[in-house]
Amino acid sequence: MKARSDRMRRMGNTVAFVPTMGFLHEGHLKLLKEGRKRGDDLVLSIFVNPTQFGPNEDLDAYPRNLERDLALAEKEGVDVVFTPDKQMLYGERFQTYVQLEHLPNHLCGISRPVHFRGVATVVTKLFNIVKPHVAVFGEKDFQQLAVIRQMVRDLDFDIEIVGIPTVREYDGLAMSSRNTNLSPEQRTSGLSLHKSLLQSFEHIQRGEKKSSAIIDAASELIQSFPETQIDYITICDPDTLDDVDIIDGPVVMALAVKIGKTRLIDNMILKP
Ligand code: PAF
Repeated sequence: MKARSDRMRRMGNTVAFVPTMGFLHEGHLKLLKEGRKRGDDLVLSIFVNPTQFGPNEDLDAYPRNLERDLALAEKEGVDVVFTPDKQMLYGERFQTYVQLEHLPNHLCGISRPVHFRGVATVVTKLFNIVKPHVAVFGEKDFQQLAVIRQMVRDLDFDIEIVGIPTVREYDGLAMSSRNTNLSPEQRTSGLSLHKSLLQSFEHIQRGEKKSSAIIDAASELIQSFPETQIDYITICDPDTLDDVDIIDGPVVMALAVKIGKTRLIDNMILKP
């Protein structure tokens, strides 16, 4: 992979990179289409990264289907699919991690304390191996994108980071590889995330400025669906992720909800 990227770079080609954990869906395909537009050489990585999963999380249940992913990648005009394994990336005595100080102490980082350390570390490694000029990420993982942008600034990576809006199913459910683990009833409960975001959008349009009132209403709506367990609902500053109590500028509303055993996330930028 490194030798190929060096060759591409020597030839003056732009290397575009889409890192994923596989089980590709429409959202990933959107990222690949953007990568295709931006790069002469388009690299897709598929690696279910163990260091971003905590001990009681769904590493083993994370869906995988490499054969299908490879067919989709070919259709999207991907030039290289990089599929390292755990041994290749972490070896025997791995001990160097990339850890951000503040951004991981919010939202998903609270209930997933090792998650962003794992993400920042694997993305750093992938950047060093793939050597892209540009890398494309989904805005559905809002905090992840904020973490990666910050890390790229802090550590002087010479890589342009591009964020792509969330792709949704026809009924609003944000596309996620984890959706495949939902039963039909649970999938209906999964719609509560987007519904609560839309409801919050309306509340703000009608002049509500207090985050706590909006969050309470969202929480009530979500809890009215079966098998939902709210991890967090937050209204925060899009750059620092600090909580915003009174909304008088653009904010991000972000939430994570467990539906049965499957944890879903979603978010929306809200403007008064
Ligand atoms: O968003 C994902 O699929 C993963 O978190 C990433 C960025 C590929 C790192 O493992």
